[in-house]
Amino acid sequence: MARRLFPAVLVAALSVISNAGVSEAWWWSPGWRWDSLFPAPAADRGRDEHRPPVSSIVTAKVYRDMFPHKDDADCPAHNFYNYTPFVRAAELFPAFGAEGDAATRRREVAAFLAQISHETTGGWATAPGGPFAWGLCFKEEISPPSDYCDATSTQWPCVAGKSYHGRGPIQLSWNFNYGPAGQALGFDGLGNPELVAGDPDVAFQTALWFWMTPRPPKPSCHDVMVGRYCPSADDVQANRTAGFGLTTNIINGGIECGPGGAPQAVADRIGFFRRYCAMLGVDTGPNLDCAHQQASFG
Ligand SMILES: *[C@@H]1O[C@H](CO)[C@@H](O)[C@H](O)[C@H]1NC(C)=O
Repeated sequence: MARRLFPAVLVAALSVISNAGVSEAWWWSPGWRWDSLFPAPAADRGRDEHRPPVSSIVTAKVYRDMFPHKDDADCPAHNFYNYTPFVRAAELFPAFGAEGDAATRRREVAAFLAQISHETTGGWATAPGGPFAWGLCFKEEISPPSDYCDATSTQWPCVAGKSYHGRGPIQLSWNFNYGPAGQALGFDGLGNPELVAGDPDVAFQTALWFWMTPRPPKPSCHDVMVGRYCPSADDVQANRTAGFGLTTNIINGGIECGPGGAPQAVADRIGFFRRYCAMLGVDTGPNLDCAHQQASFG
């Protein structure tokens, strides 16, 4: 069974694509202060009290149906990505899945779950239930090619002996993401990066922190999916218009978007998104792909 689950080609593909999220050095912008953006904006944009929480969009049953294999013994993350820590983490980000009309809210949640599913997928083309039934199978990058330490990021200095490879639902990577994620969420991201693959609450929190936090000139994935993103003239020129494809661009555009990108990885993300939109009874909206978009913002 382990062989069926992890054929060599899959492991190779995973090491290239699945763990590539949150990995781009050009995200880091030295002048930007995370604490000017968090938590005040999240609080300002608090969930409308009249709107139901994320747990009413994704019930425990829907979550089980979305991730039928996540607790299989062959999935390294089995028994890690439970429903309760997902819902608890969402409560810390009250604007998540709570802005715009019912369709917008559902579509945003589907987009988030699709992106984390691609980042953690254990699926392959002929997998039981199809390739998109295998989200949340991995919690940590397999065979990381490096310790993901960007020594030029003096604001978030690497701690000797620590590795900042992909961990958790969004596969948080690099010291310049672990540092601010930890500071925002109240843990030592640089000194204790292992926590992201050790504590399910922290794991989901890092994924939602990443989803909700803009990194100028990049917007947040949240703002893109709720219609708050205002493309600049450069963005328009580069075809960076709102839609699921733009969240892929934000997450891993330098590798996957534009000419010479990674269309198979992009298609995997879109496949999860289509499946979850169907399950939540919402259309996908436009601009699913990012092949025609330029990657680098700014
Ligand atoms: C924008 O999209 C159009 C149509 O797909 C394409 O012809 C054009 O080259 C794209 N522009 C850039 C800057 O990638």
